[in-house]
Amino acid sequence: MSAAGSQMRLTPTRIRAMKGGTPIVCLTAYTTPIARLLDEHCDLLLVGDSLGMVLYGMESTVAVTLDMMIAHGKAVMRGVAKSCVVVDMPFGSYQESKELAYRNAVRILQETGCDAVKLEGGGEMAETIVFLTARGIPVLGHIGLMPQQVHTAGGYRSVGHSDEEVAKIRLDAEAVGNSGAFAVVIEGTVETFAREMTAVIPVPTIGIGASAACDGQILVSDDMLGLFNDFTPRFVKRYDELGKRAGEAAAAYAGDVRCRAFPTEEYTFKRRS
Ligand code: KIV
Repeated sequence: MSAAGSQMRLTPTRIRAMKGGTPIVCLTAYTTPIARLLDEHCDLLLVGDSLGMVLYGMESTVAVTLDMMIAHGKAVMRGVAKSCVVVDMPFGSYQESKELAYRNAVRILQETGCDAVKLEGGGEMAETIVFLTARGIPVLGHIGLMPQQVHTAGGYRSVGHSDEEVAKIRLDAEAVGNSGAFAVVIEGTVETFAREMTAVIPVPTIGIGASAACDGQILVSDDMLGLFNDFTPRFVKRYDELGKRAGEAAAAYAGDVRCRAFPTEEYTFKRRS
């Protein structure tokens, strides 16, 4: 990555300054070609640990490793010119202590060249975010539905439906929002809560299944492109059906190969005379 390249990209500081303005556009990216396609349309690209499920067919994000995140972070960085790139810290790489979080966040930043890391967690992670940001590591928070906690939460379900739940996630949002994080992802929660938190916390809220009240929106690209069909959450709008179209293209190719309609002369090398 050249110095000029890094200066062209939106920085976490500039993303933070977008609070209350034009909504911040975010998508996930895991590979160079997809990053190249999305970059010009987005403000922020997230190398999400959702790649475990979307690319590797895992049942959850729990088994995703730091090495996987770094490999995909490097791939995405090769395709990005203007978006701010954030790489997810995977399960087990930051929860144990703020020192472990620091060491692993440094690896992510140094080895990928990305702009920031994201980590899941509410009040219990606030001290870690303070520690990282004070030491030069920009952090994107993630509260509400936290996929890495699937085993303790007993599944993936939206939160904020009872007074007790609202009280808990309000504390989480305030703690993370005031910890030095440059923005906070709020996943899978009710509109009233997202609206209240967007008004209260000093940094942008990036919603995923958290209504239009947030300062920005993020979706898993493969969901919105119709490439990941195992499960589509209710909050996902599918802007295309690329998975269906890829299947149709593969069927057409298979048919052509079987009846020798491909390759034709056009696709065949002849000896130069
Ligand atoms: O891993 C991921 O893709 C995420 C987004 C869904 C916010 O955390």
